[in-house]
Amino acid sequence: MRVGVLVSGSGSILSALIQSGIDICVVVSDRPCLGLDVARSNAIATELVERKSYGGDFDRNDYTSRVVEKLLNYKVELVAMAGFMTILGEPIFDAFPNKVLNTHPALLPSFKGAHAVEASLAAGVKLSGCTVHIATPQVDAGPILAQEAVPVFENDTPASLHERIKEVERRLYPKCILEISQGGHVL
Ligand code: GRF
Repeated sequence: MRVGVLVSGSGSILSALIQSGIDICVVVSDRPCLGLDVARSNAIATELVERKSYGGDFDRNDYTSRVVEKLLNYKVELVAMAGFMTILGEPIFDAFPNKVLNTHPALLPSFKGAHAVEASLAAGVKLSGCTVHIATPQVDAGPILAQEAVPVFENDTPASLHERIKEVERRLYPKCILEISQGGHVL
């Protein structure tokens, strides 16, 4: 399966996907970021669909359609969000039904949203982890494909806990995507 990856950040999950041998045909970002550099240094095509507005005038469906257009240009069959920080609208779920995946740095359905690691620490949980799931128009919802827990330590900071979670994501997310793309996991 031809996989398109969406990034906004440092691209360490993307790196793990690349190293696992997944057939990534394009990496799309909503902003200039290290993730695009990771793609370029691995000779993977990149598309910057820059998000210009974070205010009330942001047209989510129009933005999403522009992302979808890029993915379709590369004949993408499976979309993997890897730290993509713009919530996408219906057009991507229409274009890729049940074929948009996400990894989230918490054990869903707890701690949805962009600040999951901070919220987990603030709640004082003793276990956190990551969730790989099929994305739906509802943020951080959708059928769960895999989860793995990590311990939370007394002296954890958001950065230390997030890194512990990402170590798992870098193993679990490629495994799930490979299973799906090799037909072992029916979506
Ligand atoms: C991951 O923890 C992912 O779950 C979250 O953003 C992080 C991306 O990390 N949505 P990186 O930019 O790939 O290092």
